[in-house]
Amino acid sequence: MLNVIIYVVIMIILGIESSCDETGVALYHTRDGLIKNVLNSQIFTHKKYGGVVPELASREHIKYIICLLNKTFDGNVKGHDLYAISYTRGPGLAGALLVGASIACAIGLSLNKPMLGIHHLEGHLLSPFIYDHSLRFPFVALLISGGHTQLIHAHEIGKYTLLGETVDDAVGEAFDKSAKLLGLGYPGGAAISSLASFGYPGIYRLPRPMLYSKNLNFSFSGLKTAVQLLIMQQKHKLCKQDKANIAMAFVDAIVEVLVFKSICALKYTKIKRLVVAGGVSANRQLRIKLNEIAQQRSYQVYYPELSLCTDNGAMIAFAAALKLQKEPNSAKYEYSFDIKPRWLLSEI
Ligand code: KG4
Ligand code: ZN
Repeated sequence: MLNVIIYVVIMIILGIESSCDETGVALYHTRDGLIKNVLNSQIFTHKKYGGVVPELASREHIKYIICLLNKTFDGNVKGHDLYAISYTRGPGLAGALLVGASIACAIGLSLNKPMLGIHHLEGHLLSPFIYDHSLRFPFVALLISGGHTQLIHAHEIGKYTLLGETVDDAVGEAFDKSAKLLGLGYPGGAAISSLASFGYPGIYRLPRPMLYSKNLNFSFSGLKTAVQLLIMQQKHKLCKQDKANIAMAFVDAIVEVLVFKSICALKYTKIKRLVVAGGVSANRQLRIKLNEIAQQRSYQVYYPELSLCTDNGAMIAFAAALKLQKEPNSAKYEYSFDIKPRWLLSEI
């Protein structure tokens, strides 16, 4: 068992995140913790299209990143105080990743600082420990976002094994598509979750896809179709209460599957620590259910602070700090970057 949050070297790391529709810049100090964390969310740009438009995402990153960097360095920290510069190398949208990587490398070159490209999902799964310093390996991670649904065995920093993943839609995608069917706009995860809390239990029941599949994979595209069918079967125009009842049935189905498979993964690996990360880890109903089961079975469950569930620069800077502590030479004075839009966590 290893407690990695004891830093030998005091350092300040700059972290830049630009893999999808959030531009994030942060400074992580290994003694003082997170000292800056600024973000520009592009939700309003993509909302009218009902999903992320890659070309627009790249343009928005270009438009805001310098302003965010200026805000990051408006305090006492200067460029020359940095120990290293980290950025999201992948996975993500190619054009969006290129913006963050090119700005990061330009800063690195001008300041003569070493560079470290970080895997976006490694950033997410370490994010609960930015404020809570009780990080211990090994743990099981449930990574649930708009693009990923994975169960991962985390052995140590940089060493991860995939236990299972979605065979079709990611869980966040299912939230967003079902929210759209209920007229809740994009992205709909938080909205469908709030609406579900007004639902009456037991009015509708939706399928629990792959619950007994005897593996740790997931499938969520059928659930969205089930929501669509349920809406079509209604003989009258849906009122707010009908929508809340459907939202509740949807959230119940998702939560049951995520909790069941997480417990299976903990049993399979004989591990008692579960980390839940990614945008969907903000979900209230999931947290309540997982906490309940964890208490009954003596599991420990870790979540990021609500503000750090979705994409941000803090998790990138923090992951870089942990990697540098483990391997001080992992940051390189190399400025010809190479992004990885498709990149498996097991291959880092
Ligand atoms: O991790 P993230 O910011 O971006 C990706 O890397 O995909 O996750 C965004 C996803 C969206 O699908 C959004 O609807 C979902 O996280 N989400 C939620 C909640 N807040 C955000 N889903 C369920 N409940 C929430 N409270
Ligand atoms: Zn993400």
